Amino acid sequence: MVSQRTNWVDLERKRYMRTFNRLPIVLVRGEGARVTDEDGRVYLDFVAGIAVNALGHAHPELVRAIADQAAQLIHVSNLYYSTPQLELAELLGKYTCGERVFYVNSGAEANETAIKLARKYGKLNLDGAYRIVTATGSFHGRTMATIAATGQEKFQKPFTPMIDGFVTVPFNDIDAMRDALTDGTCAAMLEVVQGESGVHIAMREYVQSVRALCDERGILLILDEIQTGVGRTGTFMGYEPYGIKPDVFTLAKALGGGVPIGACLATERAAVFTPSDHGSTFGGNPLACAAGVATVRTIVRDRLAENAAAMGSYFVGRLESLRQRDGRITEVRGRGLMVAFDVAGDYAPRLVQECLTRGLIVNATGPNTVRMVPPLIITRADIDEAMGALEGSLNTIRRVTHHDRLNGAPAASSRPTRRGAAMPTARKRARR
Ligand SMILES: Cc1ncc(COP(=O)(O)O)c(C=O)c1O
Repeated sequence: MVSQRTNWVDLERKRYMRTFNRLPIVLVRGEGARVTDEDGRVYLDFVAGIAVNALGHAHPELVRAIADQAAQLIHVSNLYYSTPQLELAELLGKYTCGERVFYVNSGAEANETAIKLARKYGKLNLDGAYRIVTATGSFHGRTMATIAATGQEKFQKPFTPMIDGFVTVPFNDIDAMRDALTDGTCAAMLEVVQGESGVHIAMREYVQSVRALCDERGILLILDEIQTGVGRTGTFMGYEPYGIKPDVFTLAKALGGGVPIGACLATERAAVFTPSDHGSTFGGNPLACAAGVATVRTIVRDRLAENAAAMGSYFVGRLESLRQRDGRITEVRGRGLMVAFDVAGDYAPRLVQECLTRGLIVNATGPNTVRMVPPLIITRADIDEAMGALEGSLNTIRRVTHHDRLNGAPAASSRPTRRGAAMPTARKRARR
């Protein structure tokens, strides 16, 4: 009997909620900075699960740690002590300013924890102040509290009314921040590099001034380091080059190297939870924390934050010189291995598809912004290969756009793309 190959794209369309505009590749395997699809086609992965696979795919030490822990104890309730979560707490205490930790399973949950902590801090120390000031362009998650914190209306609109207590002010505008802080404010919450909206970097003086304002008012500075933390920006924590320390910060993404784990860390003064204030069934379970220990140890031992700094500046340098040659790139931004560029039209999603046909995975954060957050293990050779695919893709779009114009077709940028539509070129090449 000939077995029929499952059409995973059709199955997804039928069974999954309509939440993701996926690219039509079915990924089945990964090794290092590369992933392989079901047709055996290999891609250079410059998305890395959106800044998650810091060690790349199938890193032997992470694989071993997960397998060993799974064979020993996968899960146990937080009603009891377990060793990996305390080992990880000790490591995080060593490499960050976080004195106490609470573990969860995702970034949004880590921020929920920070928000609850700030509200309790306000009750205890600030006459019940509960407002949190956040920034435009920020992204803090998809739960009801974290979309209220997120400074982008598009994430809030379908779900109004929003939870009360969040005020959003323009990013990098210290006067706006100062004006927004009132006696009702318990915290300011920021990312030092906004990833989701396309790698927008907080200015040094801005972050230092926000820190000073928080100190003056006795309120908490919460940093969402879910994307920036654990080596991504070229230092272990994103706040390090700013010469300040937050009172509360959150981690997720890279912390488990791909195994879901999030964490909210706080200084002793800010860690005001008492028993039954907060909890999590899975948060901090032995499997996730063993992955966290292996990931953090490897990042520190192999100096992967330093590699992120070096490779990030090489990458930005190459993109900058491309920008100077090709007017279609209008701006390049980067810190460590959070790198993005803007293009001169709304064809970033098309560029992403073109890159895919050339074996490179990148991501569009908007119609004209392409973002890259590759594994921290990448090499110059990987970046050179990615640059080849990016340049080739830009050239193809240029040719197609020119051809379309000659034939009176709509501009390349305004062509509709079918959700989940199979990309003929990629498929054909994959089968070759
Ligand atoms: C800065 C930041 N905060 C929070 C989140 C939400 O994390 P999660 O998707 O794990 O809930 C993200 C995810 O992209 C993020 O980049």
